[in-house]
Amino acid sequence: MGEPIDAVARAAALRAEIARHDHAYYVLDAPTVPDAEYDRLFRELQALETAHPELRTADSPTQRVGGRPLSQFAAVHHRVPMLSIRTETDTEASGADAFDARVRRELGLADADAPVEYAAELKFDGLAINLRYEDGVLVQAATRGDGETGEDVTQNIRTVRAIPLRLKGEAPAVLEVRGEVYMRRDDFEQLNGRQFAAGEKTFVNPRNAAAGSIRQLDPAVAAKRPLSFFAYGLGETIGWPVPATHAEVLDALQAHGFPVCEHRAVLSGAPGLAEFHARIAALRDGLPFDIDGVVYKVNSLALQQQLGFVTREPRWAVAHKYPAQEAVTLLRDIEVQVGRTGALTPVARLEPVFVGGVTVTNATLHNQDEIDRKDVRIGDWVIVRRAGDVIPEVVAPVPERRAGELPRFDLLARFPRCPVCGSHVVRGTDEAVARCTGGLFCPAQRKQALLHFAGRRAMDIDGLGEKLVDQLVDAAIVKTPVDIYRLGILALANLERMGEKSAQNLLAAIEKSRHTTLARFIFALGIRNVGEATARDLARHFGKLDALLDVDEAALQQVPDVGPVVAKSIVEFLGEPHNREVIEQLRAAGVSWQEGEPTDAVSGRLAGRTLVLTGTLPTLSREEAKAMIEGQGGKVAGSVSKKTDYVVAGEEAGSKLAKAQELGITILDEPGLMALLGNQ
Ligand code: IVH
Repeated sequence: MGEPIDAVARAAALRAEIARHDHAYYVLDAPTVPDAEYDRLFRELQALETAHPELRTADSPTQRVGGRPLSQFAAVHHRVPMLSIRTETDTEASGADAFDARVRRELGLADADAPVEYAAELKFDGLAINLRYEDGVLVQAATRGDGETGEDVTQNIRTVRAIPLRLKGEAPAVLEVRGEVYMRRDDFEQLNGRQFAAGEKTFVNPRNAAAGSIRQLDPAVAAKRPLSFFAYGLGETIGWPVPATHAEVLDALQAHGFPVCEHRAVLSGAPGLAEFHARIAALRDGLPFDIDGVVYKVNSLALQQQLGFVTREPRWAVAHKYPAQEAVTLLRDIEVQVGRTGALTPVARLEPVFVGGVTVTNATLHNQDEIDRKDVRIGDWVIVRRAGDVIPEVVAPVPERRAGELPRFDLLARFPRCPVCGSHVVRGTDEAVARCTGGLFCPAQRKQALLHFAGRRAMDIDGLGEKLVDQLVDAAIVKTPVDIYRLGILALANLERMGEKSAQNLLAAIEKSRHTTLARFIFALGIRNVGEATARDLARHFGKLDALLDVDEAALQQVPDVGPVVAKSIVEFLGEPHNREVIEQLRAAGVSWQEGEPTDAVSGRLAGRTLVLTGTLPTLSREEAKAMIEGQGGKVAGSVSKKTDYVVAGEEAGSKLAKAQELGITILDEPGLMALLGNQ
């Protein structure tokens, strides 16, 4: 029984259109439709195939995932052996000379003969794959294996969206395309992040991640791995017009819809090769994927045939390496670096090792959890990776080389105090990060703390921004916030991009900031977990700064909305003598505010009441109204609910007013609010 002719035609049209969009997105990197439209096409095809299962063809994009988990991979005999490639370990330009000299000798060329033409490309760091297309449709994908026999990984390869399920253009009887499945560095970082978050094993490098994904027995898992592909050669071909040169082969593969790397060239002689090697070396760090060298191939396929191969290596090709991006070295010690937020990052001190083109002596270990997960210990031999501009990283120890028992590394035990400022180090129970409690005093945190201190909602020092703070701290002019109040015109005017006029403006802004409120001052101190609202609560509750300085956690928890976490942060901060010193010096430098009587929030006229403000009030700004309500112990909420006691409505009040009416909540105008506050 045949399917309705229009369903057949529609399915074919949808397959072709989706394949075109996939090609544009995954191969050309130039999306042609919005995601929503793509999804619509995809769902339409899925629905058609559900209604007419006979329409489900092998090359349908709906069939990229769908296979069942395997118990093992079937063996695949390669009709044309998959050769290996000779490696030129001399990473200098002389490596190119050696190859060219060998080729010329094998071809019987004299010095006077013309230079040999080469095709040069990148040596991708992934997994070699043979893709077999029969009558234009992908029928099998296999790993290289031993070169004669590989493994059938067709199900997993189908999930790689950059690999066409059907060839573009004229379909030959048989075309085998060879290339590399790899993982981009950004995809690798993201995958590892997801794996780590899910408590699953992370991968050492993109190559292992790519190889591990392809050798996954469950195609549903492989489908979630972000894999990419570059074509670089041929296997068996039947009925395909084989071009005369390798460069033209790559062009033809590109025309069939395969991704072919843009960094390739046709060059002549050894100097051309050396130049290519150097040019790509300069690009290497910036590439979105790992390469471990470049590959030179004699461009003429006729000459390739004439050269033939020895054992498994063709005489017409060579891989010219770069310095490795991974190396093994001794982990001498673990120290810590203190970041802008006080976070302590463990840093590996290494026996110097040449990796990724530079000598590496330090590498990051991220945090205690990562150290535990990798089980890295001081005295271990470790694999260090430096790829691209990424900070060098210790990826794993080499367990076989561990000499006897080594103690586990415990960051908090080793660094109970900040190595920069000597303050205590703490680690929250739900945090991976250990932090220095030094706050304002710790130089590593100084810039951040100073910016916070000067911020609009804190001391509000206009003009004291990031660039200026950087300059002031770097020049050691400002160490603590107190130094801001000791700045003179001379020191300022001499800074880069700072004329006398702007120096004067800044000094005026600093002067103005001396008169502030207790709430702003508390907020400006930058105590962890003490935001603007908490600072206001504290100011109101204690009235005077001295009343706050010596409280314990229990007393702090009497303050509305202050729980154990906040109370602990405050006690820790005020327990550091350095922080106390800064506070005293600021007072001595003339920073002042109006001190009040302690307000027991519970006794305010609006204690325990929740109000919502909506619309524009005739004379009070929103902030003023809020401050007055909070001053009387009331709370201002953002939305109306059953818990709302009053809604204060001004002009153009909208849905909140309607909601209040609906719930029967008392509605006040500005005079009504003033009366409630006792301000009439
Ligand atoms: S050609 C006749 N080209 O290197 C040579 N291989 O040791 C056959 N590789 O297994 C391979 N980039 O995984 C060729 N542009 C490139 C390559 C490349 C990476 C890998 C491939 C192969 C190994 C050869």
